[in-house]
Amino acid sequence: MNVLVTGAAGYIGSHTLIALLEAGHRVVALDNLINSSAESIKRVEHITAATIPFYQADVRDTPQVREILNSHAIDAVVHFAGLKAVGESVEQPTAYYSANVYGSLSLVEAMHAEGVKTIVFSSSATVYGEDAPVPYHESMPRGRTSNPYGTSKAMVEKMLEDIQHAHPDWSVSLLRYFNPIGAHPSGLIGEDPQGKPNNLMPFIAQVAVGRLQQLSIFGNDYDTQDGTCERDYLHVVDLAEGHSKALINAAKPGVHIYNLGTGEGTSVLDMVSTFEHVNGVAIPYQFAPRRAGDLAAFWADATKAEQELGWRTQCSLEDMMRDTWRWQKGFPNGYRTPMEGLKTTE
Ligand code: NAD
Ligand code: WQD
Repeated sequence: MNVLVTGAAGYIGSHTLIALLEAGHRVVALDNLINSSAESIKRVEHITAATIPFYQADVRDTPQVREILNSHAIDAVVHFAGLKAVGESVEQPTAYYSANVYGSLSLVEAMHAEGVKTIVFSSSATVYGEDAPVPYHESMPRGRTSNPYGTSKAMVEKMLEDIQHAHPDWSVSLLRYFNPIGAHPSGLIGEDPQGKPNNLMPFIAQVAVGRLQQLSIFGNDYDTQDGTCERDYLHVVDLAEGHSKALINAAKPGVHIYNLGTGEGTSVLDMVSTFEHVNGVAIPYQFAPRRAGDLAAFWADATKAEQELGWRTQCSLEDMMRDTWRWQKGFPNGYRTPMEGLKTTE
């Protein structure tokens, strides 16, 4: 298929380009580069030896998206483009509703106008809300979200359901990611947060490489095995593969919802000790007060994706730690650390 990937220069998008190319699809990349650099796409080209048409464009520019869909005879869209920082969404809700909700609406309008009827959307476990029992299952209703980021994901899910209802020949896949971490095993692409990381894995990696002094563990008095929060961390390469697998739904009109996770929770302390053990690097840490809005523990019931898509995670926590470290050690400043031997277009 000809697949448009929005947000393609970002962390998950760049890994998904590789999975889609490996599955034999042709990909077109779109990103406004607000949270990424086109360097990631060049490196994907280096890894795959493919040439990837790239458009620096905003999903809210409906005419330009139409032009791209039309000129590349796009069959399906994998939609990552959006903003993702929970705390920032509380400070700047309009930016989040604009990029995530209006951006998705604009994209869908362009698809409708050009007759493209398959979309795979990056949703999040956060749509289960604050009160859902674990493990989360797709049959549970969306819950009460606690920040504009989460609300924007729930709103787009609902919007896509309504659009599919009105256009029964559309295929909508809503992929609810748990906590993606890790990097491509080549060590050439990975997560490259701007400024101080909000998330645990990049924070640990930046402590390991000396960019940050020590990790603060937010809370050690939760009702969990060791008192720290538990999450379902999955390798970004497994997650990317889930998008390729979800494209089999292109032939099945309807709304298809899948959790993408391992089905297991891991505590913050276990994350630290596994990283240390696998990579032989010490991670100094201190306990700090709980972070507002954190839930004690959640993980996926991941059986539906396995039954319907034949998808399940392949990588272990050790793989995630090893691959994160290979990327961080090789490129301490992410994409700002130059890569030798990379062909530049200039
Ligand atoms: P990312 O920030 O690395 O990638 C998102 C990309 O979208 C960036 O390259 C950014 O420049 C681009 N973008 C933002 N607004 C845009 C716009 N208006 N037009 C075009 N491009 C735009 O984030 P990621 O971790 O790769 O996440 C990808 C998607 O997955 C996001 O929608 C995110 O909400 C969702 N998601 C991420 C996680 C996670 O933990 N990383 C978990 C659940 C869901
Ligand atoms: C994991 C655990 C922290 C940093 C967030 C979003 C969610 C999703 C993924 C998109 C928690 C602890 C963290 C630190 C710490 N994104 N931690 N010290 O909160 O599960 O999910 O990212 O949809 O919507 O909310 O992930 O990596 O931020 O935190 O102790 O410096 O690590 O308290 O228990 P989270 P995270």
